[in-house]
Amino acid sequence: MLAAKADFPLLGTTMRGRSLVYLDSAATTQKPRAVIEALTRAYECGNANVHRGAYELSERATALYEETRERVARFVGAGDPREIVFTRNATEAINLVARSWALATLKQGDELIVSEIEHHSNLVPWQEVARITGARLSHLELRPDGTLDLGAMTSRTKLVAVTGASNVLGTIVPVRRLVGMAHAVGALVLVDGAQMVPQMPVNVTELGCDFLAFSSHKMLGPTGVGVLWARRELLEAMEPIVFGGGMIREVWRGGSSFGEVPWRFEAGTSSYAEVVAFGEALRYLGTIGMAAVREHEKTVAGYALGRLLDDGRFELYGPLDPEIRAGVVSFNFGAIHPHDVATILDGEGIAVRAGHHCCMPLMRKLGVAATVRASVYVYNGQEDIDRLLSAFGQVERIFGKQRRGACRTDLSSGLAPGSIEVAGQGR
Ligand code: ALA
Repeated sequence: MLAAKADFPLLGTTMRGRSLVYLDSAATTQKPRAVIEALTRAYECGNANVHRGAYELSERATALYEETRERVARFVGAGDPREIVFTRNATEAINLVARSWALATLKQGDELIVSEIEHHSNLVPWQEVARITGARLSHLELRPDGTLDLGAMTSRTKLVAVTGASNVLGTIVPVRRLVGMAHAVGALVLVDGAQMVPQMPVNVTELGCDFLAFSSHKMLGPTGVGVLWARRELLEAMEPIVFGGGMIREVWRGGSSFGEVPWRFEAGTSSYAEVVAFGEALRYLGTIGMAAVREHEKTVAGYALGRLLDDGRFELYGPLDPEIRAGVVSFNFGAIHPHDVATILDGEGIAVRAGHHCCMPLMRKLGVAATVRASVYVYNGQEDIDRLLSAFGQVERIFGKQRRGACRTDLSSGLAPGSIEVAGQGR
């Protein structure tokens, strides 16, 4: 494992009488003690509202808040901290682009491209934009091997909004190639980095994308903090969508003018303490190094894929090549409902997610109602995967023996030529 489990207080606890095996980091990661202490310290020693006080405590809080903005900018390779907008989460960051940039830009006849593997957060806002503007919403299709068909773009294409890494299939999307294709026809690219930024080195300058959204809580930081990075000239041209204190330049009885970016998008009291603790999470990840995080995810997810394939009783979804897969492994176990599987695993002290993972269109494409999903992070190791596998003995004790058969990535129902046999490949 890459980070000491001892750094994470919750990982030392027991669940249902067993030591906790936490395999749901794609939903939210556990927090290291350093982050928890930074949050406590902010409240115990530095609590004041930011950008509002002329006294020292407020000035110190403001300085820490803005230093974190600089740290976030460096973390994603942004040249200018003023390109970083703090939001509540990645969803809100995407909605900011949808409500501000897209509604003002798109019109009837334009095309807006998403993909079939999007989380609802990067789909529903664009459905709304399409409904309001009359723009056409197209979908990059999922191929049977779990990768995306990058399709074709035209001069009508105005935005490609795509995940960097799927929260269900783990598919790592070739963003740089997509950016090249989009920019060639004059379209912009928004990357939903909720799964990508926590798991691999991300540099917006190298990626060339136009917008990037991600969340603190999926990368060791507190909840309640999201980030929108956008190129400065795009932000400068965008209107705020939330109005009130802290975002204005001047207010008269009958109207107002707005402040500069990024503050004009941060109306109301900011999550100062959470933002500062997020800075501590970035420091922790920086000490490990994001290249090492990526290697670790590849190793542990690759180990999980290999073990599940070898076992033969699991239906696996997504690419089998760890090189193009993030630390997310979705599967089904015979005909047993994923919720039943997750409940039995919980009885063994193992936390996994089961359900549609906020990806209902993808579930339909896969021809399933739900999957079980194990997702790993810096504090997981192969021993956690071993515990997961051995817990299926208990699932079989309750539900009976499951048929052994070839494992498949089952992209069947909607997809020709149907599911593909992959046993023995791509370990
Ligand atoms: N987006 C989070 C997940 O995939 C909540 O679990």
